[in-house]
Amino acid sequence: MFTKRFTLLATAAAALCVALPATAQDYPVANKPITFVVPFAAGGPTDKAARDLAVSMGKTLGTSVVIENAAGASGSIGANKVAKANPDGYTLLFFHIGQATLPTMLRNIPYKVESDFEHLGIVSENPMAVLARPTLPANNMAELVKWANDNKGKINIGNAGIGSASHLCGMLFQSALKVDMTTVPYRGTAPAMTDLIGGQIDLMCDQSTVAAPQLEGKKVKGYAVTTPKRLAPAVFKDIPSMQETGFKDFAVTIWQGLYAPKGTPAPVLKKLNDALKLAVRDPDFINKQEAGGAIVVNDARTDPAGHRAFVAAEIAKWAPVIKAAGVYAD
Ligand code: MLT
Repeated sequence: MFTKRFTLLATAAAALCVALPATAQDYPVANKPITFVVPFAAGGPTDKAARDLAVSMGKTLGTSVVIENAAGASGSIGANKVAKANPDGYTLLFFHIGQATLPTMLRNIPYKVESDFEHLGIVSENPMAVLARPTLPANNMAELVKWANDNKGKINIGNAGIGSASHLCGMLFQSALKVDMTTVPYRGTAPAMTDLIGGQIDLMCDQSTVAAPQLEGKKVKGYAVTTPKRLAPAVFKDIPSMQETGFKDFAVTIWQGLYAPKGTPAPVLKKLNDALKLAVRDPDFINKQEAGGAIVVNDARTDPAGHRAFVAAEIAKWAPVIKAAGVYAD
């Protein structure tokens, strides 16, 4: 009896010993793609940064990294999908500052940022730019402020959904100007940009990485960037910071990071974090971000603990701003 039970236990223990290390040793299996879920439409700034990171991390991980755009509800649909995904390292979330703003902005958020995700590292910081349709008559911020005051009640401003980064920036802009505008939500700023170029909407905040080619092609007008300093790429050289244009307290920096579902095995997380740390040193990844005025992060926030602490600090930083601006959605 004792011998039989002992044999069964020994067999189970041996199976467990074989199964556990195999998970990490074999990860990632070469022909099994890793998916980055991007919670906004293809062609927007989150999608662009995710695709650049996927190329760089894929080189290190030795397997393809594919993008799935799961847009809607300001990014919370895609984030919730990953929060509930199998924690095997094959389904990850690439998300921006929304990880810190949505818990305050959304009244019914279906996941908990602190406890439903493993933090894998922040990779970039992205300024936003205040943009307008090409036919808008104002040619600088002073003229834009005058135009907005002259056209009260008639102005549309696009964004990637109530609670998105572009919405937050747009609400702060309206509150700085003391002019209310009609918000037009899209599933990402990519479709909103198409309508801005076409003149269906008047204004939008979008990240510099995707604004750059449109400014270069004179498809949209740019009035200011939301970081304290002007941006390095030539296309932004004549675009002042919001602070230079007189809005002293206006500062919004978007940041992008990678997350796995809670419970992903530690050795898998280590492989992913190692690959992320190589990506933020990869000249190809760096050049692609810097060309659009973004800055690649290479500090303690590329560590899971640093990333987690930064998100907690950002939640605390933005909660009173969001409450004061009254930017809520269900
Ligand atoms: C996008 O990728 O479409 C935007 O970053 C979304 C947003 O403005 O929050």
